[in-house]
Amino acid sequence: MKMTPAVLIVGALMVFWASSFIIVGIPSMTMKEVPSEIWRPLTAEEDAGRRLYVQNGCSYCHSLFVRTNDWDIGAERIAQSGDYVGFEPVILGTERTGPDLSQDGGEHPDDWNTAHFVNPRFTSPISLMPSWEFLGERKITRLTAYVQALGGKDADLRQNRQKQFKAQAVAAFNGGADRNIEWLHSQVPEVWRRMPNPYPANEAALQRGKRMYQEFCINCHGPIGDGNGPAKPYLSPPPLDFTTLRRHLVENRFIGGIFYYQIMNGVTGTGMPYFKKHLESEKIWDLANYLGVFFLGYTDANVEPRGIDASFEGEWKNTYPVPGTEGAR
Ligand code: HEC
Ligand code: HEC
Repeated sequence: MKMTPAVLIVGALMVFWASSFIIVGIPSMTMKEVPSEIWRPLTAEEDAGRRLYVQNGCSYCHSLFVRTNDWDIGAERIAQSGDYVGFEPVILGTERTGPDLSQDGGEHPDDWNTAHFVNPRFTSPISLMPSWEFLGERKITRLTAYVQALGGKDADLRQNRQKQFKAQAVAAFNGGADRNIEWLHSQVPEVWRRMPNPYPANEAALQRGKRMYQEFCINCHGPIGDGNGPAKPYLSPPPLDFTTLRRHLVENRFIGGIFYYQIMNGVTGTGMPYFKKHLESEKIWDLANYLGVFFLGYTDANVEPRGIDASFEGEWKNTYPVPGTEGAR
């Protein structure tokens, strides 16, 4: 066949139509608009928040889907087409400058989200997300409602948990410092309440702790650990004043394991986020030593019973005999 311009044009169009049919046509004919098991309709308030999400370009930095190969971002559920039924336009986003938000509902309580929208640096000191304070209180409430609905029925379960714990946390806070500490520590399993910090509070560790405190904690708990960071007015209960924990030390010499557990898992119902996705184990122990030394004037680092070994830290050399030498077990 001779390659005339007409044949070329018709051929090119056929290739274009064929690929459009495969990419757009077949999926739109075969994909069913059947809601998934977690889908639920949005309320009017949440839908208003969804429109704000689209209008303000949140999708330039956030995605709304998780694939199998995204397991490393820590999301538990893989996105299904049935999750998006009726949400027009479906804007999934391709950039992940910020975290994926498809399952963000109930991850934090409402007050954390409000503080974060007013100024992301309040809750996440080194965040590059812009402040949305200019939207005003009304619209921030709507955005929060939308974000809390992400994840559908799963998000509702998490939100209910946040609300139940929030009621307990606020009641404990209003009951005074002793009652508050009692409640906070009742969230920590017994074994962690009797576990000292296995890492020595040497200078390097405290420097690392300080650095992390500035990057993750300072705008809630404040530079001197009294809970007076700029996020305070938005949070209920307010960020913990660490100096109130001195009364805990009167009867109990262990605090390292409590700090570790709380930083790792967060305190559900309060603005205190969990850091297990951000920080590795040793970093959390370093933070625990930093809080103890600088805000309580005490750390249980290295006291008996010792926890997990850290083979490279200098201090261990003297306490653990080298196998095969005298004194080895
Ligand atoms: C320039 C990029 C950028 C834009 C635009 C942006 N974000 Fe973010 N967002 C981030 C980053 C980075 C983080 C992680 C740090 C933090 O917590 O602030 C984040 C965190 C979040 C979180 C917290 C997630 C979690 O569970 O920790 C929410 C919710 C959120 N963004 C919602 C929004 C909404 C809604 C909009 C639009 C109104 C928006 N973001 C616009 C970058 C962005
Ligand atoms: C968004 C604000 C916020 C951020 C950020 C934050 N916290 Fe908290 N933190 C809180 C709140 C609120 C509580 C609970 C206060 C209450 O219930 O009285 C809390 C409680 C705690 C507790 C519990 C203490 C105990 O004895 O049970 C520890 C430990 C703690 N925070 C350490 C940290 C560390 C370390 C960081 C940074 C890695 C951090 N927090 C970041 C708000 C925050």
